[in-house]
Amino acid sequence: MFTVENQISGKAFSVSDDVSILDAAISSGINFPYGCQKGFCGQCKATIIEGEVGYDGDIPNAITAQEVNDGMALLCQCKAKTDIKLAVSELDSVTDIALKMLPCKAEFINKLNDDVVQLFLKIPGSESLQYLAGQYIDLIHPEFEPRAFSIANAPVNSSTIELHIRIVDDGKFTNYIFNELEEKSLLKIEGPKGGFYFREDSDMPIILVAGGTGFAPIKAIVEHMITVGIEREVFIYWGVRDEPDIYMSIPEKWSRIHKNIHFVPVLSEPNIKWNGRVGFVHESVLQDFEDLSKYEIYACGPPIMVESAANTFVKHGMKKDKFYSDAFEFAFEM
Ligand SMILES: Cc1cc2nc3c(=O)[nH]c(=O)nc-3n(C[C@H](O)[C@H](O)[C@H](O)COP(=O)(O)OP(=O)(O)OC[C@H]3O[C@@H](n4cnc5c(N)ncnc54)[C@H](O)[C@@H]3O)c2cc1C
Ligand code: FES
Repeated sequence: MFTVENQISGKAFSVSDDVSILDAAISSGINFPYGCQKGFCGQCKATIIEGEVGYDGDIPNAITAQEVNDGMALLCQCKAKTDIKLAVSELDSVTDIALKMLPCKAEFINKLNDDVVQLFLKIPGSESLQYLAGQYIDLIHPEFEPRAFSIANAPVNSSTIELHIRIVDDGKFTNYIFNELEEKSLLKIEGPKGGFYFREDSDMPIILVAGGTGFAPIKAIVEHMITVGIEREVFIYWGVRDEPDIYMSIPEKWSRIHKNIHFVPVLSEPNIKWNGRVGFVHESVLQDFEDLSKYEIYACGPPIMVESAANTFVKHGMKKDKFYSDAFEFAFEM
């Protein structure tokens, strides 16, 4: 057993040599930030101040050799080889939320377009899942590895979980969900997970950037704001390939009803006559906002979109600590 001490919070916990430092932190109720837990997203990166860590195989995708040399580590993948002193900014507002494994039933399956399905999961009995708007769960089926999906509904009735699932070419689990999963089937979920959640302790205007099914957690965030009466100015940009990929009309409806909510759909490859924005979604944000220094920005969707947004937005004054993202796999640097 080794001891890991976070020099920022002063908190310490024990870790054995066969679990990741992140797993040990989570088991000890310490909220280090994380996303995919698979070495793809880079959200669990930390500075090792003292001590030695190691990886089971190659250095994971989300960290460069240079960063390893500079004393950085990917906490979801590395294991302690000695006592460790590290520096991580812990997430305070998820502190009281317990990670739960819960059984659930596929209550309603609704095909939203040719490649996105809306899946409602019902948690039976008196159980419910406490979570923050924007977080995700792992969906578990005995025949597949757990898969991450963002929760698309606000945490109001947390015994029902809504997911928006895009079918991945040759993807095992998403093809099963799309083609074979039946209503009333039993599944499990584990969550809530992730540091991508709505920060309520701010009055800054907000820019929400979604790519494809990255709209799911954005929907949860906006629904939550509407439910609790938060009237901060919100600008939603939803980037997709073509018009049918805008699989829900709800953001357009929000913008009609709520004067603080603005919606800009952006198509990258429109096949039809389209009078709206065309191009990459992050470029559309920059058409409207030359200076991003006074905005809180949430970006969610394919890694390339999140990476492009992060890299270009910082050049337009975005404050790194006001940028929150969930990349649906793989790493990015900023
Ligand atoms: C934090 C988080 C939240 C997510 N939320 C959502 C969500 O709300 N909705 C949603 O539709 N998806 C979401 N995803 C992505 C989703 O988890 C994957 O699409 C899913 O795990 C694919 O499972 P599969 O078994 O079908 O594919 P696999 O059988 O695992 O993969 C098959 C092939 O597709 C590739 N592949 C897998 N995933 C992707 C991908 N996302 N993009 C491109 N290629 C891929 C693999 O490398 C492999 O070559 C999220 C991912 C993360 C990390
Ligand atoms: S949580 Fe570690 S790389 Fe994603």
